[in-house]
Amino acid sequence: MHYHIRQPQTRTEFKHYYHLRWKLLRAPWNQPEGSESDDLEAQCFHLMAVTNGGDDKNKVIGIARLQFNSHSEAQIRYMAVSESCQRQGIGRELINRLEQRAKQSLHQTMVLDARENAVGFYKKLGYRTSKKSYRLFDAIQHYRMTKNIC
Ligand SMILES: CC(C)(COP(=O)(O)OP(=O)(O)OC[C@H]1O[C@@H](n2cnc3c(N)ncnc32)[C@H](O)[C@@H]1OP(=O)(O)O)[C@@H](O)C(=O)NCCC(=O)NCCS
Repeated sequence: MHYHIRQPQTRTEFKHYYHLRWKLLRAPWNQPEGSESDDLEAQCFHLMAVTNGGDDKNKVIGIARLQFNSHSEAQIRYMAVSESCQRQGIGRELINRLEQRAKQSLHQTMVLDARENAVGFYKKLGYRTSKKSYRLFDAIQHYRMTKNIC
């Protein structure tokens, strides 16, 4: 899989970025389009993985967002990779790039609420589980995870 990671920039790129977020993280639980975004989008750092070549050139296949909770803490949200592209290192690279961005602004701690199915993924990348957090749509248990990036 040949792809690159970059920030969405144009209206069309953001449209594809949010659409994949909805498709992977909201549609399976019958949530309407529009439910995938919140009030903080404009203040956040967004990344997407995009295919390089072939018939599917410029297809968005991975997404992730970094929000800044305080001077020291940054939070990963809305992280997902298209099913057919999972387990190829794309998720790891998205997280690495979010951590780099957080370090640039001198943030020291990364936090996230991981879906139960993704806890093992974040553990591989050095995140530690601290506690159960919330249940989304009355169905998906989340776990608070943290990593020191100093
Ligand atoms: C979780 C997710 C983002 C991982 O992305 P990915 O591109 O498949 O992950 P990578 O290929 O970069 O995996 C990095 C490492 O984590 C492991 N890994 C990936 N998914 C895993 C999982 N669900 N459980 C345990 N380990 C996992 C990989 O095997 C790899 O390990 P290795 O370095 O020993 O080979 C992706 O599976 C996904 O989008 N899931 C559905 C949506 C979701 O749950 N998002 C998270 C919301 S909190």
